Amino acid sequence: MLLRRTLGQDGPAIGAIGYGAMGLSGVYGPSADADGIATIHRAVELGINLIDTADVYGDGHNERLVGRAIADRRDRVVLATKFGGGPTEPGGGGLGRPERVRGWLEASLRRLGTDHVDLYYLHRVDLATPIEDTVAAMAELVAEGKVRALGLSEAGADTVRRANAVHPIAALETEYSLFSREPERELLALARDLGITFVAYSPLGRGALTGAITGAADLPADDWRRRSPRFGEAHLDANLRITRALAPIAREHGIALAQLALAWLLHRGDHVVPLPGTRTIANLERNAEAATVTLTPAGLAAIDAAAPPGAAAGDRYPPEFIAALDA
Ligand SMILES: NC(=O)c1ccc[n+]([C@@H]2O[C@H](COP(=O)([O-])OP(=O)(O)OC[C@H]3O[C@@H](n4cnc5c(N)ncnc54)[C@H](OP(=O)(O)O)[C@@H]3O)[C@@H](O)[C@H]2O)c1
Repeated sequence: MLLRRTLGQDGPAIGAIGYGAMGLSGVYGPSADADGIATIHRAVELGINLIDTADVYGDGHNERLVGRAIADRRDRVVLATKFGGGPTEPGGGGLGRPERVRGWLEASLRRLGTDHVDLYYLHRVDLATPIEDTVAAMAELVAEGKVRALGLSEAGADTVRRANAVHPIAALETEYSLFSREPERELLALARDLGITFVAYSPLGRGALTGAITGAADLPADDWRRRSPRFGEAHLDANLRITRALAPIAREHGIALAQLALAWLLHRGDHVVPLPGTRTIANLERNAEAATVTLTPAGLAAIDAAAPPGAAAGDRYPPEFIAALDA
């Protein structure tokens, strides 16, 4: 049985490791739908019940695929999806305008083939709309039973506090890994204090922390990572040196690098739920096993020395994505 957590303050029990389905829509190399469905089925069997998608992943393909995969086991899944992550209106923002929120949800429900989502996230804070207005519209959907809990993704501390004052925020989904330790400045403690589950996305550094990537040549031509400065010519080698420095620590614990990266996150607090993505059952099973790993104090210190905050070279997103992020 996978280690369990509570979603938010009083939500359903979730596996301490979640499953992110984004990679099943060709973002990081090709993926066959049948393999994706089999992987999701195995996740649910293993107790990895927090299944994460978004309306923008694969232009709706991802939600449709997740919907097909969970149709006959909907009650065993804590289904999370997101809105507001697409291209903004001219001049910026606009996707979180309150009058649009219901339409986003209804479109997601149709693609997912369900009458409710368990966790509904604002994917990116709409910098042109007060967060209170967006969250009030999301809260109406909770009152109607179409949404069970609310989440924010990539929201700054002030936004989280303001949103949480309108309606309890159950989860904050933000990039957090040995390559992206920014949440340690404020967000991690804030989430703990407010009873918010911290869902750590891209916990494997989009694959760079696993040892599976040895250079840019390993990435297919249309791989999204080719747009990320961290995977660019100027920075990838430096980042892979960090991964190589972590390898002996993983070996000492008798685990794989990916398991080290996930176990490290699980040691950051009981409210942290890593959300890795994979297209294969073999990697999924390995990732689930990370929840059984105890890292020694010496191991944790060695990890900190090999990958201290700020160690990763290059921004995690291209400049135009960074500019659109909440402070
Ligand atoms: N809220 C947001 O803005 C946001 C942004 C990005 C992602 N997310 C969510 O977070 C989820 C996970 O993030 P992510 O997919 O970007 O990155 P990730 O989980 O850090 O890395 C995924 C990559 O790691 C590889 N991998 C997974 N397990 C492995 C293992 N045990 N050994 C070796 N390689 C392994 C995968 O390849 P294989 O497929 O070959 O295993 C894939 O290329 C997404 O699916 C999505 O749901 C949210």
